[in-house]
Amino acid sequence: MAQPKAFLFDLDGVIVDTAHFHYQAWRRLANEKLGFDISEEFNESLKGVSRTESLDRILAHGNVTLSPAEKETLATLKNDWYVELINKMNPDDILPGINAFLEKTRLAGIKIGLGSVSKNAKPILERIGILSAFDAIIDGTKITKGKPDPEVFLKGAEELGASPDECVVFEDAVAGIEAGRRAGMKTVGIGQPDILTEADVVLANLNNMTIEDLRKALHF
Ligand code: G6P
Ligand code: MG
Repeated sequence: MAQPKAFLFDLDGVIVDTAHFHYQAWRRLANEKLGFDISEEFNESLKGVSRTESLDRILAHGNVTLSPAEKETLATLKNDWYVELINKMNPDDILPGINAFLEKTRLAGIKIGLGSVSKNAKPILERIGILSAFDAIIDGTKITKGKPDPEVFLKGAEELGASPDECVVFEDAVAGIEAGRRAGMKTVGIGQPDILTEADVVLANLNNMTIEDLRKALHF
């Protein structure tokens, strides 16, 4: 049976709580510029989805049609608001248990990769001081297709020299779990089991998680 060789982590909602900031910025855009509200439930369908695709989904949700130029302006405005929020972050914003889990991963000889659709991924990792913990970083600047397409994770595996069946994906998004599964990897959902129904295992967070317990849960 394959041994885990690489762990691929999503960023927003797994390493840091920026999923909440994305929602805040999109919600402000919908409220102030589009004249409708978006619920937290609807926001689940935006998680892991690229900036342009997220805007398209929001516009469709509110039955609003805009020109490509207007969409560009709104996507830029959302990102400006989002960047304002992430610029206030510091190492204390790393989610509970992440630093310890990354350390355990390294000690177990397992490679660490980032698999995020976000174009803000690198500045965020720098800001929270964990950029150097990653052996490979695949972000929105390196891919052409967002999740649920498996591209981001397949590229991560390739850069880390692992085959898909040697990789584990850590994800908070439904689209991200689907991307991991389509890549042929095992998936750990971070969040609620009733939302992340397709994940192999669902955990509330990685606090106190050991590599051994995880391997057992994933049948490695
Ligand atoms: C991640 C988040 C999404 C976000 C996407 C693009 O996948 O989960 O909510 O839309 O990245 O992020 P960006 O920072 O490039 O707008
Ligand atoms: Mg996420």
